[in-house]
Amino acid sequence: MKGLFSIVSAALFATAVIAVAPPAELGPLDGLVDGALGEITNILDVRDDLHFNPVDIELKTLATGEISPRYMTNAKRMARGLNPKAPVNLRDLPTSTVSATLPKRSTAPNLNSRSYTGTVSVVSNDNSSVIGYVSASPNKYGQYGLCTDVDAALKVSFTVSDDSSPFDITASNGISDFPFFGAIVGHASKAVDLVSGALNYVALGGVEQCGLGAIPSIISNAFSFITGISVAVESAIWSISDDLELSLGWVNSDGSKPESTDLVYVSTEDALVLTGDLPVFRNSFGFSADVSVSCSLKLVVS
Ligand SMILES: *[C@@H]1O[C@H](CO)[C@@H](O)[C@H](O)[C@H]1NC(C)=O
Repeated sequence: MKGLFSIVSAALFATAVIAVAPPAELGPLDGLVDGALGEITNILDVRDDLHFNPVDIELKTLATGEISPRYMTNAKRMARGLNPKAPVNLRDLPTSTVSATLPKRSTAPNLNSRSYTGTVSVVSNDNSSVIGYVSASPNKYGQYGLCTDVDAALKVSFTVSDDSSPFDITASNGISDFPFFGAIVGHASKAVDLVSGALNYVALGGVEQCGLGAIPSIISNAFSFITGISVAVESAIWSISDDLELSLGWVNSDGSKPESTDLVYVSTEDALVLTGDLPVFRNSFGFSADVSVSCSLKLVVS
């Protein structure tokens, strides 16, 4: 018993040391196999340790509402009197953007695939009551939080293939330039991996499309657009259960799945986040259980 106690207290001590250690570690990009790390070292200058989101920096504003014509097919664009899509102009993208190559998606029709459209309700894990809906309006950092009126909810759609591979979710009335409903590595995360013992977290937000089940990659996203800070994201990591619970299957940088994750609604930030260690996450930011509600997402089909 005494042995167990000292292991536990040693672990607690180690956690405390990690929590107060100066930011000598790499930032939220640690663990990326990308060759572009040299370009984003400035992140350490901007990142202030234990702020859930950066403070004292200038924020750009995002367009919200109808999906950006940039993402429409040429047929849809022409139906609206727009010219066909121009090739992507790299100068229009944030300078920190590193385009990752997407694994090829199958274009063969999948006869058993199912398509869904709806809104996403957020259910408290404590009492199973619906505490709100994922809102079409993000917080000022491009992260999605909650609304109570279903009319203000994010409208999502996605297609599930019969081989239970992860899928993308697109939003039709959210952040129009980043229409994929994905996950963005949290600003104060020490690394991109969701692991036990670390405060690391990813926030739901608007991103560009990433490879199916891909490891974290530095791709344009709403948070980076707004703050100018590069962080890694994932998009095609969703799954749905028979009772329409939507789960985020974050993939760590070595391609493995986290041992366990918890989805939390942080009301003070109006953000939904996934973390690999809920107690460490809560303690690090001083979030009580009341302001960091453990929750689940459920599709409301429309
Ligand atoms: C259910 O729990 C949430 C927090 O988890 C709380 O905000 C809400 O008031 C509770 N609702 C009921 C009916 O107890």
